[in-house]
Amino acid sequence: MSDYDGFASIYDQFAAGMTEDVPFYVALAEKSRGPVVELAVGTGRVAVPIAEQTGRRVIGIDVSSEMLGLARRRAADAGVELDLRQGDMRELTLEQSTDLVICPFRAMLHLPGHDARVDLMRRVRSVLVPGGRFAWNAFVFDPAIAQEIDGVWRVEQGVRNRSTYDYAERRIDLTLENDATVRLWWVDRDEWEAAVAEAGLEIEALYGWFDGTPFDETSREFVYVTRRP
Ligand SMILES: C[S@@+](CC[C@H](N)C(=O)[O-])C[C@H]1O[C@@H](n2cnc3c(N)ncnc32)[C@H](O)[C@@H]1O
Repeated sequence: MSDYDGFASIYDQFAAGMTEDVPFYVALAEKSRGPVVELAVGTGRVAVPIAEQTGRRVIGIDVSSEMLGLARRRAADAGVELDLRQGDMRELTLEQSTDLVICPFRAMLHLPGHDARVDLMRRVRSVLVPGGRFAWNAFVFDPAIAQEIDGVWRVEQGVRNRSTYDYAERRIDLTLENDATVRLWWVDRDEWEAAVAEAGLEIEALYGWFDGTPFDETSREFVYVTRRP
């Protein structure tokens, strides 16, 4: 049983506010030859439009059987095939190398700490051809937001939820009314870039949003495109 199984029934409603990432990842897929690998594919929110709009084969990996079940249904409704695999992205292996791996919607934040992030990036590097890209996005931690919402039940997109912050662990526990809880570890820019370097990747671009706005101190999102040299 995965932490996300208890989120699956409300996930698409909860994620409804995030739409601008889809054309960004589709555009990256258009530039690739594929297959496109989506780590933590969830309900196929990004994978299905990629398959529909680019015709690329998409391999989607996720630990949650409930989330994968919804991805299967979304793909069937759209009339596309996804290659969905249940497993931990930290154990990523592929039968053939590829030129694009993506990890949308902050799923990298589910990795508990620096070493786990470096291990994952090394895995990704090992399946990329030289010049192949690894792209992901993650929110920028904002202490003012944390202070305002810490421990408070709120309704977002019609879903009651509560975030609690553990500053020593740099962790957020996001809980629903059904007690389902997922954990996120926030990461700052220095840590992302140290992990990229340690894993032997290089940064091609860092945007502050999916429209290509350059990242600066006002940015609320890290949108990284890295590549294997
Ligand atoms: C925020 S959702 C993102 C889903 C999808 N990528 C999207 O953009 O909508 C996070 C997903 O990460 C998955 N996940 C968390 N840790 C994982 C891991 N170690 N390996 C594979 N999947 C993981 C969860 O099951 C969940 O489906």
